[in-house]
Amino acid sequence: MFDTLDRQPPDALLAVIGMHRADPRPDKIDVGVGVYRDETGTTPVMGAVKAAEARLLSEQVSKSYLGAEGDQTFTDSLAHVALGEALAADSRITGIQTPGGTGALRLAAELLARTERRPTVWVGAPTWPNHAPIFGEAGLRVASHGYFDAARGDLDFNLFVDGLTGAQPGDVVLLHGCCHNPTGTAFDAAQWQQLATMVVARGLVPLVDLAYQGLGRGLAEDAAGMRALLTAAPEALVAYSCDKNFALYRERVGALWVQAPSPAVAVPVRETLLVLARSLWSMPPDHGAAAVREILSDAALSADWQAELTGMCERINALRLALGQAHPALAPIARQQGLFALLPIDRGAVRQLRERHAIYMPDSGRINIAGLRHETVAPFIDALAPHLPL
Ligand code: LMR
Repeated sequence: MFDTLDRQPPDALLAVIGMHRADPRPDKIDVGVGVYRDETGTTPVMGAVKAAEARLLSEQVSKSYLGAEGDQTFTDSLAHVALGEALAADSRITGIQTPGGTGALRLAAELLARTERRPTVWVGAPTWPNHAPIFGEAGLRVASHGYFDAARGDLDFNLFVDGLTGAQPGDVVLLHGCCHNPTGTAFDAAQWQQLATMVVARGLVPLVDLAYQGLGRGLAEDAAGMRALLTAAPEALVAYSCDKNFALYRERVGALWVQAPSPAVAVPVRETLLVLARSLWSMPPDHGAAAVREILSDAALSADWQAELTGMCERINALRLALGQAHPALAPIARQQGLFALLPIDRGAVRQLRERHAIYMPDSGRINIAGLRHETVAPFIDALAPHLPL
């Protein structure tokens, strides 16, 4: 049976982790996979998470099963952070805990595949390389549209709108809520409003991937566009990840919210989510979500978490400024947000940077800005400059 399976290439992004790890050069730079790093190059456990974990260790009395929905207090507390007060109280919206943002996206895909419409999912090109496989593996058709003006290194809203001309009513449009991966671009408030108008007029269903809330402009600012969109759209989905903003990466903490057209329709939506989750992972892992729940239910821990997150965001933005000022071809980086930027270089340059300078990034030329330290910006630019357009 298994001899019919084809060989598969390793995941291109995860392979960068292994290549960097195997490189013995002491001055190597890892701007590959998207994890926040501090000025010492480490990805620390956040202070509030440590405190919440200590509390769980001493106070948690049971690890018995919770159910396919996971920890509902976690999901409901997180809704206030992600969706804001008004939408968190909206009974058309139902949400459950998922194993990370990827679990949320996969659950969304399975839900969409269960509908009579079986919509096409439209994803921007380029996007996170795992987006298309997640929807494709659930049996959905994935179509792509443009939005990125590579020459200017900026979002082109007209290109985005034109690219969606072929989308049919009921089709799903995948949007990055903030901190676009891989380009760092963002819609401004007016564009989110235009988007909301377009989605409503054409009967499209937004699916917002919110994986970096708080790492762009701030917690509320990074969710504002998505909230405006949800307020306007009759149906929508939000896939949320706590990987980056709670630095819980390997704990796999996320949530999926679905906005139904009415509270009555939200009931079968929720029941279907629970049936699907049960067959996919039965129940999501608890520990990371329990830590987030502890943080969000304690004002002092919440304030501590937000302060540390703000510090992370400020460090990224300071590095963005330094990169943007270092070379004219990198100027857009200073205007963009989040962990990522897409360098205007080709695969050959990526390979040379890796082989000659021990600088690691995926072939797309995407960099994780937090992989730099202030003292490595100069050697990074020195190595990169010969490959940049004038
Ligand atoms: C990334 O894009 O680097 C992160 O989202 C990590 C991942 O799972 O790909």
